[in-house]
Amino acid sequence: MATQDTVEDTVEAAETAEQSSEAKYPPLENPPYHVGIIMDGNGRWAKERGKHRLEGHKAGTENLRRILEASVEFGVKMLTIYAFSTENWKRPPMEVQGLMRILENVIDRELMDLHKNGVQLRHIGQLDRIDPSLRQKVLDAIELTKNNDRLILNVAFNYGGRAEIVHAVRRMIEDNVRPEDVSEELLSQYMYTAGSPDPDLIIRTSGEFRTSNFLIWQAAYAEYYITETYWPDFGKDEYYQALRAFSQRERRFGGVKNP
Ligand code: FPP
Repeated sequence: MATQDTVEDTVEAAETAEQSSEAKYPPLENPPYHVGIIMDGNGRWAKERGKHRLEGHKAGTENLRRILEASVEFGVKMLTIYAFSTENWKRPPMEVQGLMRILENVIDRELMDLHKNGVQLRHIGQLDRIDPSLRQKVLDAIELTKNNDRLILNVAFNYGGRAEIVHAVRRMIEDNVRPEDVSEELLSQYMYTAGSPDPDLIIRTSGEFRTSNFLIWQAAYAEYYITETYWPDFGKDEYYQALRAFSQRERRFGGVKNP
């Protein structure tokens, strides 16, 4: 005979799950506020399984959902993901179209859930080369979620760090900024990330030791965590390890210890 769960059973089960997660992932004393992720290795993940590269990107997208949930649980407040770089246009047209479709599917299928869960979506990069209907979906998603504050998710899409700096300088010139008024603080205000704190931690999967034009201005003092794991396999356990490694590091921002 099937047992009928009571409300008490359900609450108890949820509490037990929460307690066991706390035992496995004790709260971090000093979690990074802003984490950037270079989600690399989707192609190799797919190749090793005899699948098309796009299958790797799909698996990477599913992993993103896990990492979003874990970010909330572990106390990360801002996540910036490198989803499509200005250099990615050089990939085969089918892969480029596939990545565009993935962004569209994420908005179509996940937006309401993200919104319900208090995720604020933002975009960094240039939307001009993106198909107008997708561009509009991105703008609508940003508008819908703009007051959410549980987690800020910056999607770097058609993003490049050098292009961002060029864009910022152009806008400063258009605004007739005088040379003597140019400062690091002012330039930061002309970046796509204006008003956001710099990333504390950048995670790069699949073992490459490169910045690949990701947040090159903002990551000047970021800590890096590089792992051999391909992005689709970078799960909650390893994410926690990365955050814990960060929380144990001592950041001096170019200064000295106990001056
Ligand atoms: C790098 O792996 C990954 C990308 C260029 C795309 C990352 C995109 C996703 C995970 C989808 C999530 C996206 C959105 C739009 C929310 P690679 O293809 O360079 O891997 P490889 O180096 O093994 O070939």
